[in-house]
Amino acid sequence: MKAVENQQLESCAAWGLDPQRIPKHVAIIMDGNGRWAKERGESRVFGHMNGIDSVRASVEAALELGVNHLTLYAFSTENWSRPVEEVNALMDLLVETLIKEVEALADKGVRLRTIGDTGALPTSCQAQLKLAAEQTAHQENLELILALSYSSKWEMVEAVKAVMASGLKPEEVDAQVISDHLTTRDLPDPELMIRTSGEHRISNFLLWQMAYTEFHFSPVLWPDFGKEEFIGAIRDFQNRKRRFGGLLDTNHNVESR
Ligand code: FPP
Repeated sequence: MKAVENQQLESCAAWGLDPQRIPKHVAIIMDGNGRWAKERGESRVFGHMNGIDSVRASVEAALELGVNHLTLYAFSTENWSRPVEEVNALMDLLVETLIKEVEALADKGVRLRTIGDTGALPTSCQAQLKLAAEQTAHQENLELILALSYSSKWEMVEAVKAVMASGLKPEEVDAQVISDHLTTRDLPDPELMIRTSGEHRISNFLLWQMAYTEFHFSPVLWPDFGKEEFIGAIRDFQNRKRRFGGLLDTNHNVESR
């Protein structure tokens, strides 16, 4: 553990980053695979396949800097409306990637989990995700969270149903109760959200959890988003003044709840 921490300090020094202000939780909307492929006269699936290198680069950068949680928006509830060939190809890519990468993830100390309506995924995906979660369950360097068949509105509806079923009285429901019924109940809120490809939207992603998150919008298409771009997003984050609705200017990573 000490060796990991020393390596993180060295990396921060090498990249000119403050090790005290590395966001604990980074969330990413990986956008632009289709456009990246189109620019090359290739199918959209080719873009998704090349997006895997960027997933690897972001995981490695997160590990190197000491980010604790990395949430990737890999498949939204709305993505089910894409052509069936693309949906199937994405599911196959997920299974293949898990099979190929799970050992390397475990070796690096990455624990894998999901958020979302994963029961809607093909059974082969569900089985591979379960296996990957089991095989990495004891890893502690970084938690990699794949948002699959996820949307914030789906999650909030599920949370409301669970709160109602819990028998709590209306006057007993507060913001903490809602947070405690979300799929992210055991996670700190993301401090930084990155969206690639020049789009400036949240797209139904962690709406509740991102009340005070800093946003970094990169013009780079996801398959071109490498380690340097990830580091650049962290640098941008470290230059922000976070006030959480108060008057105090703070450059410290105060927990937002
Ligand atoms: C958005 O680009 C990207 C997606 C909907 C899928 C992202 C998925 C991956 C990169 C693979 C993830 C796999 C693992 C194992 C995490 P887009 O298709 O909307 O691009 P466009 O806006 O240019 O059309």
